[in-house]
Amino acid sequence: MKTVLLTGGSRGIGKAVKDLFLSRGFNVLAPSREEMNLSDHSSIARYTASIPQGVEVLVNCAGINELAGLEEVTDEKIQKMISVNLLAQVQLIQWASKFMKKKSYGRIVNFSSIWSEFSKPRRVLYSVAKAAVNGLTTAAAVELAPHNILVNAVAPGFVNTEMTSANNTPEQIRQITDNLPMRRLAEPKEIAELVYFLASEQNSFMTGQTLFIDGGFSCI
Ligand SMILES: NC(=O)c1ccc[n+]([C@@H]2O[C@H](COP(=O)([O-])OP(=O)(O)OC[C@H]3O[C@@H](n4cnc5c(N)ncnc54)[C@H](OP(=O)(O)O)[C@@H]3O)[C@@H](O)[C@H]2O)c1
Repeated sequence: MKTVLLTGGSRGIGKAVKDLFLSRGFNVLAPSREEMNLSDHSSIARYTASIPQGVEVLVNCAGINELAGLEEVTDEKIQKMISVNLLAQVQLIQWASKFMKKKSYGRIVNFSSIWSEFSKPRRVLYSVAKAAVNGLTTAAAVELAPHNILVNAVAPGFVNTEMTSANNTPEQIRQITDNLPMRRLAEPKEIAELVYFLASEQNSFMTGQTLFIDGGFSCI
């Protein structure tokens, strides 16, 4: 049985990923924030030290999106966004890939966003962090490919989760869906299905890609 370490499994997209992997026979490790706080390097080190056998799959799903305009940006705010959205992913990839190399097998899925390539006002912190995830994905894919470790990122558009309702008013969500080719938000399970493909043995050759799953947002 393959083991997946999943961050952000408590709710939203991560919860859907957790349920899907469990239903398809994976052993899922989905630590809560109390067990592994992603903004704390030593908390991540402590939790991963409790998994001596490593994992075959890593899904870096957790993320935060703090809104700020350019003039509101501070080093502290950038540091906070980068620590959860990027540095935790880096630390977990470093840890997981050590075991994956020994097994000559691994699948890593990072979470990016449409806002890694597109943006709108007050998304500077998020765009900076998620664009860096795309770079991390490409670079890690190149280094790890000789070990049969495939690294990809999913970049969702608008998904029906707390993150979307916290950062957009109902009126804004109505405008967003009116303008989307698919005319609706994605459900978390739809994102989970793509994560599952990338993390499964079915994916045997795709690596280094950031896949936009956005209902056509990036096409218009
Ligand atoms: N929703 C969207 O429309 C959308 C669009 C594009 C990309 N994304 C990306 O997709 C991923 C999942 O988004 P979502 O909408 O499902 O998010 P969400 O509903 O806001 O859930 C965020 C998850 O991240 C966890 N988390 C945040 N900070 C953490 C920390 N310091 N330590 C440990 N866990 C932490 C949360 O744990 P707690 O429950 O403990 O807070 C929660 O499980 C994120 O990377 C997000 O950037 C989402």
